[in-house]
Amino acid sequence: MVDTTNAWITERTGIKERRIAEENQAASDLACEASKEALKTAGLQAADIDLIIVATMSGDMLFPSTACILQKKIEAHKAVGFDINAACSGFLYGLHVADGFVKAGLHKRILLVGTEVLSKFTDWNDRNTCVLFGDGAGAVIIEPTEEDRGILSTHINSDGTMWELLYIPGGGSRYPTSLESIQNRLHYIKMKGNEVFKHAVRTLGDLVIRTLKENNLSSSQLSLLIPHQANTRIIQATAERIGIPMDKVITNLDTVGNTSAASIPIALDESIKSGRVRDGDYILMEAFGGGFTWASALMKW
Ligand code: ACO
Repeated sequence: MVDTTNAWITERTGIKERRIAEENQAASDLACEASKEALKTAGLQAADIDLIIVATMSGDMLFPSTACILQKKIEAHKAVGFDINAACSGFLYGLHVADGFVKAGLHKRILLVGTEVLSKFTDWNDRNTCVLFGDGAGAVIIEPTEEDRGILSTHINSDGTMWELLYIPGGGSRYPTSLESIQNRLHYIKMKGNEVFKHAVRTLGDLVIRTLKENNLSSSQLSLLIPHQANTRIIQATAERIGIPMDKVITNLDTVGNTSAASIPIALDESIKSGRVRDGDYILMEAFGGGFTWASALMKW
């Protein structure tokens, strides 16, 4: 469809494969599958959940929230739900909110889902973006514990001065859908990739250092780094900055591409299933995305 090569995509991004949703599948459908699996793994029923947070920038509709649509699908009738849009940092923003709610005693069992169907917002004529994004969803359940483990700290940041480097202009109240907005391809992702890349490398490096420092932890104590899966070179640069070897860094963008808010929970799930996560492990997660937004979380498993 565009002037590109397999070699360029693999070398510049690290992506080899990705998953694209069916035409009739929306963000809540993928979220539903991930949520059911999370509930099953946790040995819980949907009725045990009292809050649903969905992190997405490709929700089913402008409204209602994808969280409400998901609530109906999984029959979590005792829950309340809302969405968070922080682009690729959405899952960690959600973790920040969920952690705060649990610590404040406001909610007891929170279902947090990162779900994206970015293939539907991809301009398949734009080689700068169409090679990057994949569809997917991942879910976790957060609840209080008296044990010496869990979420140790979360850090969220944003800088709105650079929002025009990564965005979808059309479909909102700025450029509502019209013949003109469609002809001008305003409903697709626009990205100045190189600018995003530079900011991501610098900002994430500073953030991971700060996260370790605030927890009095050295990088050698980290068992795993689970980064947002945008680009292998960004991931390597961040790992180098804290001096963590690549064998402690989870990468799966070669098989799923950049799934935005879904990337960290998918990578976490794969890490657990492949036995890479053990009790007592210190796990650092970090992400950078449109807004700009960037975030980190440190966990003791
Ligand atoms: N195939 C072949 N050539 C390409 C392609 C492609 N698919 N895409 C771009 N190019 C060309 C460009 O046109 C340019 O050509 P030119 O020099 O003749 O102008 C050349 O490759 C270099 O382009 P750059 O944009 O400088 O390439 P870069 O090395 O920066 O890689 C990429 C581009 C992969 C997009 C990288 O910048 C990146 O990963 N950026 C960060 C993406 C990201 O992290 N986004 C945030 C999360 S997403 C979210 O929040 C939704």
